[in-house]
Amino acid sequence: MKSPKDRKAFFELFPKHGVGVEVGVFEGFNARDHLIPVCAPKQLYLVDSWGVIDEQDHGTDWKGVEANHPSGRGDLRYVSVKEMFANHIDVHILRSYSHAAATLFKDQSLDWVYVDANHEYKWVKRDIEAWLPKIKPGGFMGGHDYMEYRGFGVIHAVAECLVDKGHNLVAVSQNKHPDWLVQL
Ligand SMILES: C[S@@+](CC[C@H](N)C(=O)[O-])C[C@H]1O[C@@H](n2cnc3c(N)ncnc32)[C@H](O)[C@@H]1O
Repeated sequence: MKSPKDRKAFFELFPKHGVGVEVGVFEGFNARDHLIPVCAPKQLYLVDSWGVIDEQDHGTDWKGVEANHPSGRGDLRYVSVKEMFANHIDVHILRSYSHAAATLFKDQSLDWVYVDANHEYKWVKRDIEAWLPKIKPGGFMGGHDYMEYRGFGVIHAVAECLVDKGHNLVAVSQNKHPDWLVQL
């Protein structure tokens, strides 16, 4: 297994010029600083609910909780992310719940999906299960916060939904909030 030293080195493991999705965008900095310059995606889809309250409970991911607080900050972040990528014709912003957005994609149509939304076990599991069929054979699924912290369930969900089913954990990065990567 590889241990890239930081997030930039981690995203260098992704295939270049692919069709990719980031699930959980927040203020767009990961897309701006890593996904676009490092992965150079042919098409990039950015999926976030940005605070639309629906069936989702708040979970324990502090950013998810904050973003889902009915304070209007989600709206501001959504507008700011739209402005950030306004000149990128290959960046598509989807304000949607993760599992609903996944239904918009054909099976085996994506080169990679990076999951960084709600980090509670049941939501990570739901995200993995929703997006996994959408990725091409040989493609990649990754995510953030592969760590035991404040009720995060990322390690548990990745083990149960991917590794125990025979998918190869190809990398865990060394940054303080580690990223994980599985090849399908
Ligand atoms: C940890 S932040 C994302 C950070 C971003 N990937 C980065 O590295 O800068 C989590 C985001 O996931 C979003 N989120 C949480 N649960 C979600 C869900 N079920 N569907 C869509 N977005 C969700 C929140 O609105 C929040 O903006």
